[in-house]
Amino acid sequence: MKTVLRTFFVGAIFLCVLLACQTEVKSEQPLVKETPLNENKLAEEEMWQAPDTNNIPDDDLGEAIKYGRQLVLNTAYYIGPNGKVGKYTANFMNCTNCHLKAGTVLYGFNFSSTHARYPQYRAREDKILSLSQRVNNCIERPHSGKPLPIEGKEMTAIICYIKWVGQNTPVNKHIKGDSPMDIEFPDVAADPVKGEIVYKRECLSCHGVDGEGKMRSDNVCYEYPPLWGLKSYQPGSSLHRVVKAATFIYCNMPNGKATYDKPFLTREEAFDVAAFINDDRIHKRPINNGTTNYPNIKSKPIDYGIGPYIDSFPEIQHKFGPFKPIVEWRTKRGLPAKF
Ligand code: HEC
Ligand code: HEC
Repeated sequence: MKTVLRTFFVGAIFLCVLLACQTEVKSEQPLVKETPLNENKLAEEEMWQAPDTNNIPDDDLGEAIKYGRQLVLNTAYYIGPNGKVGKYTANFMNCTNCHLKAGTVLYGFNFSSTHARYPQYRAREDKILSLSQRVNNCIERPHSGKPLPIEGKEMTAIICYIKWVGQNTPVNKHIKGDSPMDIEFPDVAADPVKGEIVYKRECLSCHGVDGEGKMRSDNVCYEYPPLWGLKSYQPGSSLHRVVKAATFIYCNMPNGKATYDKPFLTREEAFDVAAFINDDRIHKRPINNGTTNYPNIKSKPIDYGIGPYIDSFPEIQHKFGPFKPIVEWRTKRGLPAKF
């Protein structure tokens, strides 16, 4: 009995000491545990690599991630004009036609840091958008479609996939290669006439005589996606802006020949061909289906071709450049000069 009492007594003292220590430690901690930023931060010089699809887990979440990946790769098959699970997008393009290799290519509109940066302010709507709303933006604009239900199986799967792709990136940060490459702008305006020559030489063999692309033999989606015409992306899509398109083309096209670290075209050629593709005086595009575009002129990107602007440069210069004077003018006045 004595031993039992003694054990109890010693145990109780030990417990008190332990509790006291814990309280002391606790009082130094903030009430709410903050998520540490940059916990998995990639070293500055390190380039991001997409996770291995073999490591997608074999559970319910894994199923959603795999389905999301399929939706990004085979968008038209699932949710296109003849979609197996619903008719949402109005053309036969797949997300992967622009978000190369299902959003895993450096400087190829990848999803490396996407999940970690939403919700965020979006200039095009002048609103804070969630990631699902941002996905619907692409369904409405480049795909001229109607939004996917936010709570639906398809949207959830796409978000699961985008999150999985960006699993190792820090919260709320851009990482190297997640945005179009910041290349130096040519001193002169991008020239659609010169761009047509580049197009005929380097692009026409795949994207077609009239930019119409080429459907795959089973007619489900494209082998080579269209660059203009009524089945291509509509104005208001990011690719319709010359800087955005030029930087993408510089790092990625011609497909199979160019990579970000070994571009094929010169900077000037990339800008000229982007100008040719996106020149609405010579090429048709689907009519805007009612989406808003940059209602707040303060946050309008420098390469959006419809005024008014916070500067006095004309629409034609905002569309084709030269962009350097616009950037200088705005920067000098502390105004945003985004593209
Ligand atoms: C015609 C080309 C095109 C197609 C097709 C397209 N997108 Fe996009 N998407 C873009 C461009 C360009 C951006 C802007 C990327 C940037 O500025 O870094 C973008 C941005 C996004 C973003 C935000 C990325 C970020 O990191 O902020 C998401 C999410 C997205 N797209 C999802 C999709 C999905 C899902 C599909 C298919 C249903 C799709 N997109 C189809 C061109 C396209
Ligand atoms: C060898 C064939 C080939 C050549 C040549 C080629 N592309 Fe592409 N391009 C593709 C393919 C394929 C895709 C879609 C990528 C995917 O789905 O993986 C694509 C996608 C694109 C896209 C984004 C999707 C869209 O439809 O808007 C643009 C813009 C583009 N190419 C521009 C060009 C330009 C400009 C050139 C010439 C400098 C060019 N391409 C040369 C095959 C080619």
